[in-house]
Amino acid sequence: MKILDIIEKKKRGKILSEDEIDFWIKGVTDESIPDYQTSALLMAILLMGMNEEETTNLCKSMINSGDTMDFSDIDGIIADKHSTGGVGDKTSLVLGPLVSSCGLKIAKMSGRGLGHTGGTLDKLESISGFNIFLSEEDFKRQVREIGLAIIGQTGELVPADKKLYALRDVTATVDSIPLISASIMSKKLALGSQTILLDVKYGEGAFMHTVEDAKKLARTMISIGNNLGRNTVAMISDMNSPLGRTIGNALELTEAIEALRGEGQKEFTEFIIDAGEIMLMQGGAYNSKEEARKALRENIKNGAAFEKLLEMVKAQGGDVEEIKDPSKLPKAKYVSEIKAKEGGYISKIHSQKLGRLSMLLGGGREKKDDKINYAVGLVMDVMKGDKVEKGDLLCTVHHDKELSDEWLESLYKSFEFSKDYVEKENIIEEVLK
Ligand code: URA
Repeated sequence: MKILDIIEKKKRGKILSEDEIDFWIKGVTDESIPDYQTSALLMAILLMGMNEEETTNLCKSMINSGDTMDFSDIDGIIADKHSTGGVGDKTSLVLGPLVSSCGLKIAKMSGRGLGHTGGTLDKLESISGFNIFLSEEDFKRQVREIGLAIIGQTGELVPADKKLYALRDVTATVDSIPLISASIMSKKLALGSQTILLDVKYGEGAFMHTVEDAKKLARTMISIGNNLGRNTVAMISDMNSPLGRTIGNALELTEAIEALRGEGQKEFTEFIIDAGEIMLMQGGAYNSKEEARKALRENIKNGAAFEKLLEMVKAQGGDVEEIKDPSKLPKAKYVSEIKAKEGGYISKIHSQKLGRLSMLLGGGREKKDDKINYAVGLVMDVMKGDKVEKGDLLCTVHHDKELSDEWLESLYKSFEFSKDYVEKENIIEEVLK
């Protein structure tokens, strides 16, 4: 088999066989195929596409490029959840403990934030002592014993993806649905969870800008998951506005704690209950959606969900006092209020801009190795559809450095006002199975 023939075939829009795809991915992993040929093939795939079978085969070969994890020696259903990335997305911090307290086991490998999007690991690392680097053995023991662990990647999971992603990044071949789907799903499937809930975001702060593209991506990922034997469901959710009230690591963790204690923003809490219901039904933990929702609400009310977060933090070496009293989490030197200079309905809150502004405060990374400041970020006092008067509070900025006029102007421009009534929208647009 020759890689040149495979490139030629895809260039002409032909379908690649399982063996051809596997030959390519093996060559990427052992570096016998040079980057320039892989780059050419990536571009051919971006332009000509891949059908469902090719995409599933690509994902399978990528999984086989490295280690996989097997949870078959753990009793119970292991559930996973993945977000395609957003601004203010602290969902896993709430959903993990909540769903685990309702009977499923959550074994999750998360990532760090980059650019305007945050990462679950950074939020967890704002807790003093919290260890995201567990060995495979400790990870599995924790999942077995308390039913919840969230860690960074361990072992050599999907090394082919690391190589492909680095090349895609510099060859303008990131935005291909088959390539994104195989990349995300290979990392999910290499972990042995039985069910996967995908939170596929659309909008300006997301990978996919339109609902239609988000649905296409979701359908492709669902087909890979189901073809490879996992119960996979996707919710299509809005990322045009930030999720919940906060952006920034310790601030988002605080909001997650509030939600687990039943003191969260109503819209964010409903989003969590909707997602939790899907996960519990996927795992067969309850007989009906109503029972699942009831259990989720009860475990917020009776403290079981919050208790589960405490258990995980303790097991991973974090300071539980900071969870019990979030005012002990890292705090910024200054808190500045931003007020409306005009009245009207809030018609837009540009999440991507806000994510970037939070990053510029030090709350995110511009480059992969940048250090971050856990304390800084933004707390929204309004959401899309709210009516404000001139002088009302829009948001507060938690910062350690002086804010420049340019930064402040950009922050103010992240809010748009309308004289006309603006309807509030659901966060979840649709659930696809
Ligand atoms: N996230 C991934 O892990 N892979 C992609 O290709 C895009 C987003």
